[in-house]
Amino acid sequence: MCGIVGVLGHHEAAPILVEALKRLEYRGYDSAGIATVDAGRLDRRRAVGKLVNLSDHLVHDPLSGKSGIGHTRWATHGAPSVTNAHPHRAGRVAVVHNGIIENFRELRAQLAEAGVSFSTQTDTETVALLCESFLNDGMAPVDAVFATLERLKGAYALAFLFEGQDDLIVAARKGSPLAIGHGEGEMYIGSDAIALAPLTDRITYLEEGDRAIVTRAGAEIRDEQGNPVTRETRRIRIDSTRMDKGGHKHFMAKEIAEQPAVIAQALAHYLGEGGDTITLPGAGVDFSAVNRLTMVACGTAYYACLTAKYWFEQVARLPVEVDIASEFRYREPPISEGTLALFVSQSGETADTLAALRYCKGKADSIVSVVNVAESSIARESDLALPILAGVEVGVASTKAFTCQLSVLLMLALRAAHDRGLLEDDALADQISALRSLPALLNAALDQEDTIRRAAQNLSEARDVLFLGRGQMYPMALEGALKLKEISYIHAEAYASGELKHGPIALIDQNMPVVVLAPRDALFDKTVSNMQEVLARKGKVVLISDQAGLDEASDGLWQSVAMPACPDLLAPIIYAVPAQLLAYHAAVAKGTDADQPRNLAKSVTVE
Ligand code: F6R
Repeated sequence: MCGIVGVLGHHEAAPILVEALKRLEYRGYDSAGIATVDAGRLDRRRAVGKLVNLSDHLVHDPLSGKSGIGHTRWATHGAPSVTNAHPHRAGRVAVVHNGIIENFRELRAQLAEAGVSFSTQTDTETVALLCESFLNDGMAPVDAVFATLERLKGAYALAFLFEGQDDLIVAARKGSPLAIGHGEGEMYIGSDAIALAPLTDRITYLEEGDRAIVTRAGAEIRDEQGNPVTRETRRIRIDSTRMDKGGHKHFMAKEIAEQPAVIAQALAHYLGEGGDTITLPGAGVDFSAVNRLTMVACGTAYYACLTAKYWFEQVARLPVEVDIASEFRYREPPISEGTLALFVSQSGETADTLAALRYCKGKADSIVSVVNVAESSIARESDLALPILAGVEVGVASTKAFTCQLSVLLMLALRAAHDRGLLEDDALADQISALRSLPALLNAALDQEDTIRRAAQNLSEARDVLFLGRGQMYPMALEGALKLKEISYIHAEAYASGELKHGPIALIDQNMPVVVLAPRDALFDKTVSNMQEVLARKGKVVLISDQAGLDEASDGLWQSVAMPACPDLLAPIIYAVPAQLLAYHAAVAKGTDADQPRNLAKSVTVE
């Protein structure tokens, strides 16, 4: 949440900063701002709302200077407004911040006692004021920053720019990611390497507690105790074309359509071409030594874990606990011997998931993560990181990352079953050949887009929508409801079909659309019985099933969507597609912003 950038260059900084912020806008879009130093003079421009408002503002009121910092904000303390937008300035210093300063009230009280006054409600202004107070005490900029950092509690990635200092940015990382980019006589900082991709591919990731004194000549890095340290500089391959919508109206539409291709890529990575074994990177995992799996994640990634629980339990006979990271981390659950702790995260930076991972260190036998961003904190802090290879996901609502997570988790469950002697070589080969049909099945699901669009247009008029599913389809119902509410703002809830009559059935009347996800599998008849209970109360049912299911249960439906018939284990991955498309087309029909829904950010780096 919140994206930060910085540049010490040879060209005007403002356009470079805005361009880099565009690539970070997925982290927050409540307001944005930049500050530059030009011939020693520090100045800033800020605008509320999306980045385009800042660009417009800069046209009318440009900012010159070849050194600068920038920020795109997801509000934590203080409403989205120009005053609360970063960079925050106090006298000679300007600061951008990603994270939360937990002791800011205490620091504010101390500063207020010393006669300092405040103009914002933000925690970050306190950092700027504190730093300025140290400058006023006669400290040099770098010392003033270090003294400031000593006083901060919480999570931060920070960058400081100073009046009178055309060749200095001081940056610090604790709890929020920060990367340093190396150019030719130019230096950059960014919340991630994506922001810096068009500028440089040479990246140094700061580690926890690191501070960097950045000049055009390079970066001097110190650890939390102030000792000089060396951090590896790597060449990061990032395809700079991937930020384009490829002819689609939204990134979300492009990312939904990309699923057959990216899943084919993920399958090829783990299965090889034509192979019939599942290969894990590095030392892999020996599941014969594992007797319990603890899976932890947030949001959509959590629903991927809930789905995988069915696979690991049914196919690999492994007991699985699945937890929401923000609950897990404070519950301090006992971790028994033989536990493999598995963390799932698209961004690899989700603060709660990272904290849960750190809790498990030294307690679980091994820490494995399933991540999209290979260089992320979660990937780097795991014993084994399994990439999902979805490519950059720009749409805030996760789509292709979700189905890639599911595909990797299914391969892992099959591998676990094989390691544990529950799946013979032949049976594994059969499952692998079924897996290889995934891209074609996903294409067949995508072919139903027109039917789904019509259903979504009808749904878009509803105030509330219920999703029902049983077994592996229950997490898909949860995911369908989450997608619909987050991008169309329609209130949606999901229940396990069998739970309907334990309460939610009271909501059913002729105004309540109910989306039922039910492939013609062993649980179909049970789910259809629950669907009949809805129809009997005049609920408007949208049934998503395969042709065999629709042939059996089409009476009284409001709408129906036919999915391809598929092997049971693959059904959640296939049925994710109509759930995504329903939400997407409902959002388009309502005219909401599918890519950047209100109040949300893609990378949730605060708890
Ligand atoms: C919903 C969505 C979120 C994320 C959640 C975890 O569409 O995208 O619920 O799944 O914030 O994010 P990651 O996977 O980056 O840990």
